[in-house]
Amino acid sequence: MISVGVIGAGYWGPKLARNFRELPDARLTWVCDLSQQRLNHMKSVCPEAQTTMDAEEVFTSDVDAVCIATPVRTHFRLGMAALRAGKHVFIEKPLAASVEEAEQLVAEAERQGRVLMVGHTFVYNPAVVALRDIVISGHLGDIYYLDGTRVNLGLFQPDINVLWDLAPHDISILMYVLGMTPVATSARGAVYVQRQKGIHDIAYVSFRFPNGVLADIRVSWLDPCKIRRYTVVGSKKMLVYDDCAPVDKIVIYDKGADAPPYSDTEKEFHLSYRTGDGISYPVPWVEPLRVECQHFLDCIRDGTESRSSGRVGLEVVRVLEAAQRSLLNGGTWEKVT
Ligand SMILES: NC(=O)c1ccc[n+]([C@@H]2O[C@H](COP(=O)([O-])OP(=O)(O)OC[C@H]3O[C@@H](n4cnc5c(N)ncnc54)[C@H](O)[C@@H]3O)[C@@H](O)[C@H]2O)c1
Repeated sequence: MISVGVIGAGYWGPKLARNFRELPDARLTWVCDLSQQRLNHMKSVCPEAQTTMDAEEVFTSDVDAVCIATPVRTHFRLGMAALRAGKHVFIEKPLAASVEEAEQLVAEAERQGRVLMVGHTFVYNPAVVALRDIVISGHLGDIYYLDGTRVNLGLFQPDINVLWDLAPHDISILMYVLGMTPVATSARGAVYVQRQKGIHDIAYVSFRFPNGVLADIRVSWLDPCKIRRYTVVGSKKMLVYDDCAPVDKIVIYDKGADAPPYSDTEKEFHLSYRTGDGISYPVPWVEPLRVECQHFLDCIRDGTESRSSGRVGLEVVRVLEAAQRSLLNGGTWEKVT
């Protein structure tokens, strides 16, 4: 049994708490929040857990692992305190608010010999795992480009922009599926709703990967529809992954176009199109958060490197920082360093 304390019981923390309660090899022993109202609610949902408004009380307890689901600006301070207290630590995405902070967290976890894992939930989504398998199998041929959309109305964040809120999901998906970190990124965006604070609510972000693969994503809190959709175009086939689709989340299309090997006249130049059917790729359903929480426990028990380790979290923050530079520079291409 691994005992777990959850810090932060706002929107997301209770979902983590529920999963750790339900997993057979974990015990939820602490819930911490600054709000007594949230703690009262959590006490009614999980009466077995102790509650506190002081995270230090959790860190000095005999809890094995700590899960941090608080605003991004607090991740570094709480994460460092938990690691220094010798706890295994799960921090929600993004790992930290800067590369410098993320580097220190990774170094501290290594010094302490503790698991540091980031809540990149989508890399535990069976559809994303299937997407990676399909790409690796070569079924689509050489990957040309990927195009992703993650938009909805809200949830507007008061202290981070849409890039830092939503793009960690897409960057972690792209890195997991392609097995690479982008080398450069360019971001354009706009501030509409939170003008006084200058917080961007939409962003269009492009990525260049080492092998020439291009990826583009759109992230927005200001859209009438909830869309979480990827198109992946390869030299042999194309694929659409729609995370909001109740069935047929992944459909592979036998579509493409080839130019003739040579043509001396306009008349000889005819593209040949393939317009075959779309075939649904089966995706078994399990709650990604459940898989993610179990993976955290497995990493603690077996001492294995997590799929979304602190190092991966640091890479994602490097990409976010480069994209943020670009966003503020009007869309310049920025190297991911
Ligand atoms: N993986 C996902 O899909 C996913 C989805 C939503 C949110 N998140 C992440 O979860 C984290 C929290 O987001 P949220 O939407 O739940 O925010 P939220 O504002 O709804 O909740 C945060 C909670 O943390 C508490 N808190 C703040 N500082 C604290 C401290 N020092 N000690 C104890 N409690 C403290 C607040 O009182 C609040 O209840 C963020 O990092 C966010 O990016 C991840």
